[in-house]
Amino acid sequence: MVSAAGEILGAESIAAVRRPIEKARGLPSAAYTSGDFFRLEQKKYFARTWMGVAYTCDIPEPGDAMPMTVAGLPIILARTKEGEVKAFHNVCRHRAAMVLTEPCKGARQLQCPYHAWAWDLDGTLRAAPYFDGSRSGLATGLLDRGSLGLVQVRCAAWHHWIFVNLDGNAPPIEEHMQPLMEFMNHADLGATRVAERVDWEFNANWKLMNDNWENYHHMWAHKGVFTKVSDDLDLKTRRPWSAPLQAGSVVTIRRPSHGVPPYPNRESDLPVIPFPEESERVTAPNLVFPNVEITVVRDNIGSIITEPLAPDRTIARMAYFFVGDAASNPKYQTGRNLNLDRWLGKKRRRGGRDGLRNQDFYIFELQQTARRSPAADEIVFSPIWEPNVHYFHNHLLDYLES
Ligand code: FES
Ligand SMILES: [Fe+2]
Repeated sequence: MVSAAGEILGAESIAAVRRPIEKARGLPSAAYTSGDFFRLEQKKYFARTWMGVAYTCDIPEPGDAMPMTVAGLPIILARTKEGEVKAFHNVCRHRAAMVLTEPCKGARQLQCPYHAWAWDLDGTLRAAPYFDGSRSGLATGLLDRGSLGLVQVRCAAWHHWIFVNLDGNAPPIEEHMQPLMEFMNHADLGATRVAERVDWEFNANWKLMNDNWENYHHMWAHKGVFTKVSDDLDLKTRRPWSAPLQAGSVVTIRRPSHGVPPYPNRESDLPVIPFPEESERVTAPNLVFPNVEITVVRDNIGSIITEPLAPDRTIARMAYFFVGDAASNPKYQTGRNLNLDRWLGKKRRRGGRDGLRNQDFYIFELQQTARRSPAADEIVFSPIWEPNVHYFHNHLLDYLES
């Protein structure tokens, strides 16, 4: 296996990413198309940081569990009797079959389909039927039950989001999310409830979502949603209204609540996201590297967790959250629908050209196709709009080169 980014991208390309933004070039095409590069990302980046993997609403009740793949590894996500979220390698301790193949609800145990070894939802071995001839397989002491639990993976539930850190060495999740909370003036994310949950796939590299953390494309890529350049650019000063900001593993585009024109079509009767007293209300699309979007607007949160499947295939696991009972109360249905139309398009289906998600994913696929070309190695950044993209490319290289 290739172990250094330079072997795939070339030392010159890496040096070009490292230059100040005005003179920098972005990651070359191989970073978006090469299987070797994808495997390097899995090993040196995804495994060493906090990957978003699911939402807490995906396994809401004790006994709920789901299989998934994280950085190429089979993983089980489970909610224990006590309501705690845990992650395990999806590997039987007998002869290493996958234990869980389908999501399950209210299960009392996780049972391997091969010889029926079974574990509690907290990973403790319950039975290895007839392994030693006894019914439970544990009667004679032939097996050391205590050492044959499912192998745990470090896991954290943070508000609506579930993260996994495969190597166990990433800083605590609170530290990882701290820049987001500071950028968002400690908005009360916990006041929101899930209203919509949907998975779409796009045929493009997972990084293209992160590369999209700029408002420069709004006017053109989001026809019908953003309408004028002046929504995003102060034509007098020639500066964007919003500030791209970066800290740790988080980038944002911070738009103050005062002194800038509001985006069009943002009025609704929905309750607004609460902020601590005396904190300025802010709205912003936030991206928590490597793969979690948490966009906080006036009255809802739009989120994507991307699951990188292959260099050119990504699942977008999306959820939309509204404040308190605005997530479900029929009284707020019109307001909810207006917002969901804006995110997902009127048909709420992948493939349309209305709705922010379809519009963005369409562009990612255009980029992915273009990235096959040898002419696609020399991309440039706008220093006023695209510092987040340059920051992300450097952040990724920091991991791959260490
Ligand atoms: S491989 Fe799982 S019980 Fe045998
Ligand atoms: Fe966009």
